[in-house]
Amino acid sequence: MHAAAPSPLSVRRATPLSGRVRVPGDKSISHRALIFGALATGVTRIRGLLEAEDVINTAKAVTSLGAPAEKIGDVWQVMGRGPGGLRQPVAPIDFGNSGTGTRLMMGVVAGHAMTVTMSGDASLSKRPMRRVLAPLKQMGLQIVEDGRETLPMTLRGSEDLVPIGYKLPVPSAQVKSAILIAGLHAAGATTVIETEATRDHTERMLRYFGAHVESVETDGLTHITVRGDAELSGRDVLVPGDPSSAAFLCCAALIVPGSDITIEGVLVNETRTGLYTTLQEMGGDIAFLNPREEGGEPIADIRVRASQLKGVHVPADRAPSMIDEYPVLAAIAGFARGQTRMDGLAELKVKESDRLAATAAGLVANGVAARIDGDTLIVDGSGTVAGGGTVATHLDHRIAMAFLTMGLASTEAVTVDDTTMIATSFPEFRGLMEQLGARYAHMD
Ligand code: S3P
Repeated sequence: MHAAAPSPLSVRRATPLSGRVRVPGDKSISHRALIFGALATGVTRIRGLLEAEDVINTAKAVTSLGAPAEKIGDVWQVMGRGPGGLRQPVAPIDFGNSGTGTRLMMGVVAGHAMTVTMSGDASLSKRPMRRVLAPLKQMGLQIVEDGRETLPMTLRGSEDLVPIGYKLPVPSAQVKSAILIAGLHAAGATTVIETEATRDHTERMLRYFGAHVESVETDGLTHITVRGDAELSGRDVLVPGDPSSAAFLCCAALIVPGSDITIEGVLVNETRTGLYTTLQEMGGDIAFLNPREEGGEPIADIRVRASQLKGVHVPADRAPSMIDEYPVLAAIAGFARGQTRMDGLAELKVKESDRLAATAAGLVANGVAARIDGDTLIVDGSGTVAGGGTVATHLDHRIAMAFLTMGLASTEAVTVDDTTMIATSFPEFRGLMEQLGARYAHMD
C-alpha cells in the first residue's frame, strides 16, 4: 500500500497561528463503530467517521466479512449481520499500518467459525501479536501456523468460545477490546482485569449497542465483564474530534509566539486527556470551553494560546491516557525551560515504530538535549530549539507530525524524511496547519 516513494517535507518558523478549526473523527471510536456495526443486527449509521487509511482498511475488512460498509451522502452505513452472522472472506485481509484494526478484528474472527488470513505493511508486520493471541487462544482461537506471533498469519475462529478471566499483562486497550469482542460470542461471562485504566471506548460503545458490560473497581483493579451470546442492535453513532490529532495543533499554538486557536468538538474522555493535563502543568494556556456530551462521550472546544512552558515530571501512571502523544510532547519540551522527564514508556517501543528511540533521535538531530534511561525519556529544555536536522520517521505518522510541529518554532527549518504515513490517521494535518498559518515546503 505504501510502495509510493517517500515524500520528505520541511517546516520553518511560523508567524502567529490563529483561527477556529475542527479535527477529523477519533480513530479509536471510528474503528469500533464500524466493527460493532458489523456485529449488530440492522443498520448502523456513522457521522464524522475518520476517513484515514487505517479506518478505511477496517471498513474494507468488515465489508469482506459480509457486512458492507459504505458512505452514502455524509453518512457511513454498515449493514450489520447480527450474532455470528459474518462469513469467511474470499481473500486475505490487508490491514495496512493499523494495529487497532488488526487486533480488534482478531477478536471478531475468534468468535466465528471461519479461517482468515491477515496481513499488513512493513511496520505492522513487526508488531507483537502474542499479547492478543494468548488470551484469544485460551478462548478457542487457533493459529493455523502455530507459534507465529507476527503478521501475516492465518487464524481459525470458533462458534464455541470459552469465556475467560484475564488480567492484562500490559496496559493495552487493544488487547482489552479484542478479548471483550471475542467475549460477545462466548458461552458465559468474560472478564478482563486492568491494573491501569486504558481508553474505555469499547465498554461505552458496546453498552450503547445493547451489550451487557459491567466495570467494577476494587483494590485499584478494574474488572470489566461482558456477557456472552450478546445481541447488538444497529445504532446511529456520532464520532467526536480526535484528541490525538488535536494534540499537534494544540502543541503548535503553544510554541509559536502570539498564537491563539480554538479546536472545536474534541473528545475529552479522561482516558485520553493526559497530554492536556501535562501541558497545563507545564504552564500552557489551555481552556476547555462549552463542555457537552455527544454519542455517549464528553466533548469540548479547546482554546489554546501561546505560552512560556516549563519542564515537568510526567508520572508513569499517566502513560495510558496519553500514550500516542509522547512524540509531540517531547518535540515541544525543548521549548520549555527546564527538564521534562517522562516515565513508564515501555509501550512506546512497540507502536508503529520504536517511538522512544525515534523521538529521541529526532530531538538530538535537531540540537535538543534528549536521552533515554530505561523506559524514561528525558528532555532538557533550554527554551529554544536549534532545528536544522532531518528526522527519520520509520513509517510512523506520529513521528512525522510531531517534528512538523516542532519546526514551527525552531530557529532553523526541520525536515522529516517521509510524510506519506500521515494519511493513515490524519490526512488533513497539513491543510489544517496551513489554515492556521503554518507553511510547509516539499523537498522533492
Ligand atoms: C488504541 C489503543 C492504543 C493506542 C492506539 C489506539 C485503541 O494502543 O496506541 O493508537 O484504539 O484501542 P494499545 O492498546 O496497544 O496501547
